[in-house]
Amino acid sequence: MPSPPSVLILFAHPALEKSRVNAVLIEAVRGLPGVTFRDLYEEYPDFDIRVEQEQSLLLEHDIIVLQHPFYWYSSPAILKEYQDLVLQHGWAYGNGGEALTGKTVLQVITTGGRETAYQREGINRFTIRELLVPFEQTARLCGMDYLPPFVAHGSLAMTPEAALKHADDYRRVVEALRDDAVNRDPIREHDRINSEAAMAFVGVRVGG
Ligand SMILES: Cc1cc2nc3c(=O)[nH]c(=O)nc-3n(C[C@H](O)[C@H](O)[C@H](O)COP(=O)(O)O)c2cc1C
Repeated sequence: MPSPPSVLILFAHPALEKSRVNAVLIEAVRGLPGVTFRDLYEEYPDFDIRVEQEQSLLLEHDIIVLQHPFYWYSSPAILKEYQDLVLQHGWAYGNGGEALTGKTVLQVITTGGRETAYQREGINRFTIRELLVPFEQTARLCGMDYLPPFVAHGSLAMTPEAALKHADDYRRVVEALRDDAVNRDPIREHDRINSEAAMAFVGVRVGG
């Protein structure tokens, strides 16, 4: 029997000691069997990323999770540095660059703004899916399957109970991806994988 897909969580938060939501989310997934958790700021306080080691880790895992707070409509800086250095031409994309083909990317973000703020009429004018397009297209260019993101909105005013509910959903999604128990096609129609409607397809083994 083939081993189930393994999950690599690349976590980026520059001030974890002040975190209210990500700190709760990571507790739900760190230490799960088949899951490698990597705190990029802890690993690289000087941004001195060990490219070959990171590439090896990517090769060893099938599901790549990018978890971070949403900063200036993007990620904290180390994740950009990671992309710039690790996703090399001829390795991740371009001529002969097929190292990541067939892998899956799930982005897991917390936003200060509420869901209503991420609409045409809202203060941010664009949807989260639109604002995350650079991440989605980067994954696609590398031949990876980018799933709808896991989004915990309204992080600044979030109650501890709501954060724990998100953490529980996060654990379910990670376990289901690890166990190849996500019915992907119907989920693609949803803005976020953790909406109530999309979660109905998480934990459902495709083909019985
Ligand atoms: C530098 C910085 C930039 C931010 N930019 C955004 C943003 O563009 N959109 C948004 O909704 N929230 C933004 N926020 C709020 C963060 O997303 C929020 O602090 C985070 O989700 C809280 O998660 P934590 O409790 O794990 O720290 C920003 C916060 C900081 C510190």
